[in-house]
Amino acid sequence: MLTQKTIVLGITGGIAAYKAADIASRLTRAEARVEVVMTRSATEFITPLTLRTITGRPVVTEIFAPIPEFNITHIALAEVADVVAIVPATANIIARLAAGISDDVLTCVVLATRAPVIVAPSMNVNMFENSVTQDNLNKLKARGFIVVDPRYGRLASGKMGVGRLAGVDEIVGIIKQVLGRGGDLAGKCIVVTSGGTQEPVDPVRHLGNRSSGKMGYAVAEAARDRGAKVKLVTAPTSLPEPAGIEVVHVRTAVQMRDAVAEAVPEADALIMAAAVADYQPKSAAANKIKKETSTLTLELVRTPDILAEVKGSFLRIGFAAESQDLVENARKKLEGKRLDLIVANDITDKDSGFGVDTNKVTLIDKQGNAEALPLLAKREVADRILDKVVGLFGKGRTVVN
Ligand code: CTP
Repeated sequence: MLTQKTIVLGITGGIAAYKAADIASRLTRAEARVEVVMTRSATEFITPLTLRTITGRPVVTEIFAPIPEFNITHIALAEVADVVAIVPATANIIARLAAGISDDVLTCVVLATRAPVIVAPSMNVNMFENSVTQDNLNKLKARGFIVVDPRYGRLASGKMGVGRLAGVDEIVGIIKQVLGRGGDLAGKCIVVTSGGTQEPVDPVRHLGNRSSGKMGYAVAEAARDRGAKVKLVTAPTSLPEPAGIEVVHVRTAVQMRDAVAEAVPEADALIMAAAVADYQPKSAAANKIKKETSTLTLELVRTPDILAEVKGSFLRIGFAAESQDLVENARKKLEGKRLDLIVANDITDKDSGFGVDTNKVTLIDKQGNAEALPLLAKREVADRILDKVVGLFGKGRTVVN
């Protein structure tokens, strides 16, 4: 939730301006205060009324148009902003900002603010690739602006090229990450795993499980939004790539073990939300297995237990998916794998566990304290886990050599 955060959303005149309405809506629904500033050309593409209706706030389009609660509009906006995000940013606004011009309300806000400024360019490919625009963007980056690069795709001209506004999910993710700087996980590196590993049987088949990856992604995004540097090692999922997070894609348990081993030297905490296969086929067939026999026996061998074997000095947080004796079984895993915290997951409840957006968990620590949480959105469960992690950072960590 972005309660008590103020985002000044600058909209400039490009066809992607309509996407700014979606961003304003997402931020408003996350309980942020969104103050919209539109350039005159932006109002040719989308009306201030749209943004006013979405945000419930007056929309600023003129430097001298008084807003009753603001004395000097551009200075007031510059001061209340926790972040300024310009979406979409045309070549024109980028050039004017790079040159330090302040001839309208948006450029004045940017010049006057001490808040971080995010710029999401969107324009014709030739305009974007022109060295003038590239030089201007480099100037802005050198001054600390955060540039969310545009994507390759079909442009308004019908041409294909780089210039499409980055995705709304990505831009909102970057805004959340920037707002989370200085949060209670600032300066910490958190490695998170997610998804269900897939163990190959032959070139077209694998042994898998029903994990959707939602819990791990929620933990990764929550940690990012609280200021952590996050590395996500994920088995295949259908979830969109989270912004502001280093993502390593793996398929098998062995690949996940190797990726985790590579990530943890920097880690302050490892949160293993992945559903790792316990067994893999002894060997994967080189060619597709044909249905030539009436039965088929696969020989399976154990996969590495990543959490039990990983070495280093960081907090270890495991998950335990259980269908019976939840707390008792989870406690055994906590001890057996030398964990600091275990998240015991009741998979008998249809609204909890695999595939759904909610989860019902009990958090159990080394001291044996067990806190049963009610059914919550996975993002809320993620924040409750991270609350515990923040507390555990103060108590030292388990070293496993
Ligand atoms: N885990 C792991 N490597 C494995 C299996 C599990 O790191 N090969 C991690 C999971 O990511 C999870 C925790 O260990 O954080 C517990 O996983 P779970 O599958 O519930 O426990 P297991 O130890 O595999 O026990 P069992 O399947 O017998 O219940």
